[in-house]
Amino acid sequence: VEEPTGTGARQVRSLVDVQKGEISREIFIDEQIFKAELENLFPRAWLFVGHATQVPNPGDFFSSWMGADPVLLTRDNKGELNVLLNSCRHRGMRVCRYDEGNTLQFTCPYHAWSYSIDGSLVDTPGALHGVPQQKAAYGTNLEREKWGLVRAAKVHNYKGLVFANWDPEAPSFDEYVGDFHWWLDNLADAFDGTEGGTEAYRGVHKWRIRSNWKFVSENFLGDTYHGASTHASVEAVGIGPGGKGKRRHGERQNEGGFSKGRMKTSFRRGHGASDNIAYEIPYPEFAEDDLDDYFVAAWEKRKEKLQAEGRLLGGRGPATLFPNMSFAAGFPRTILVAHPISPTETEVWRWYLVDKSAPEKVRDWLRRYYMRYAGPAGMTEQDDMENWDYATESSRGVIARRYPFNYQQGLGQETASDLAGSVHSHHAIAGEVNARAFYRRWAEFVDNLSWPELTKLAQVDDRTTEHVAETTDVAGGVKVL
Ligand code: FES
Ligand code: FE
Repeated sequence: VEEPTGTGARQVRSLVDVQKGEISREIFIDEQIFKAELENLFPRAWLFVGHATQVPNPGDFFSSWMGADPVLLTRDNKGELNVLLNSCRHRGMRVCRYDEGNTLQFTCPYHAWSYSIDGSLVDTPGALHGVPQQKAAYGTNLEREKWGLVRAAKVHNYKGLVFANWDPEAPSFDEYVGDFHWWLDNLADAFDGTEGGTEAYRGVHKWRIRSNWKFVSENFLGDTYHGASTHASVEAVGIGPGGKGKRRHGERQNEGGFSKGRMKTSFRRGHGASDNIAYEIPYPEFAEDDLDDYFVAAWEKRKEKLQAEGRLLGGRGPATLFPNMSFAAGFPRTILVAHPISPTETEVWRWYLVDKSAPEKVRDWLRRYYMRYAGPAGMTEQDDMENWDYATESSRGVIARRYPFNYQQGLGQETASDLAGSVHSHHAIAGEVNARAFYRRWAEFVDNLSWPELTKLAQVDDRTTEHVAETTDVAGGVKVL
């Protein structure tokens, strides 16, 4: 690892060699690199905070995290969303220690400074309101308007998905996301295509794993390679998402019709997704028959909408919005955020979405399906966690750290994409273009490149002539050969 540069950042780009497809294990282990992530990446990236339906009414709040900082997502009396640092301006006490709820104000437990739901320091006389004994303590010197809770510089509600950014210089959410918004649409829109027609189930699954947060992001943004081996047990007990009539992850991916339409999409901005582009419902084989009507009818509507837009079906993921919001937009429809705790510890949060219009029976079936399939007690999550935890433990040794990981799948064989700033890979299972692009972008942030530099790099066209094996003739998809 090279010495810090003048900006205080380490030259982590030298540890990420996307030309050779080799990435140092240090980036998953090293304390200094983790510190640089906390300083240069998380305070500048757009981060997922929560779902707007978690705070429907004035006074509602939801406790979340942005990188290493606790935040409150609140709905104020004007109906606006606020993202506030959950730390008192007096001595830093957490002003709210509940996961969610409704309140008139946040009163700090330490010395009782009180903040309104929009974060301003309350101006109400009385010992337990506003600033206790304000007159005696401060006279007229306390400039109350300056001492409200720290606010995120930017907040954006994308069809119910609420994101925030600490950096006033950061590009707009739309610019940061680019054409990757198509995957967010499929997550946030209802199953039948109704825009923003989803809501979050009450409650968020939260658990800790003993591995680096990037293992989670990388897995979701394009690691279809692990399914057939890691999740073999899921298929063995018959709860796999292989599609109706299909049993195995491997079977689904290798089989003619379906795999022809499977591809990965890698964005220069670091986002990535793997996808199916076929007009086929991603429907679990074990769904109860009387739910067919609901899902099939919704899917037909969705298909019509996508066809009218000239798009092939897809965009369901799994996918990762750079850096740490992963999601899947099929079965299950879920959001997963990997909160960094230390280089080798991560707190994982999972939200689950359902159509606002879904009947009770569908909600109940999906709820049970989600719990069984994903989350800390779900079958797939347990499989994945084991891999990440053991990979971390056996990579932290002195000898292991000298040897990089191999990211050479599909090297140099990316294909053209009509989505701005992206390339595709038709290595249906074994392709690591998404991971290479993710770590390249990660290193640019951690090395603390300026916004103009980051923006310029995001516009570099990754495609080279020899990489263009196929051309796109359908918006949002590629020609299925
Ligand atoms: Fe909050 Fe003192 S720490 S009032
Ligand atoms: Fe998995």
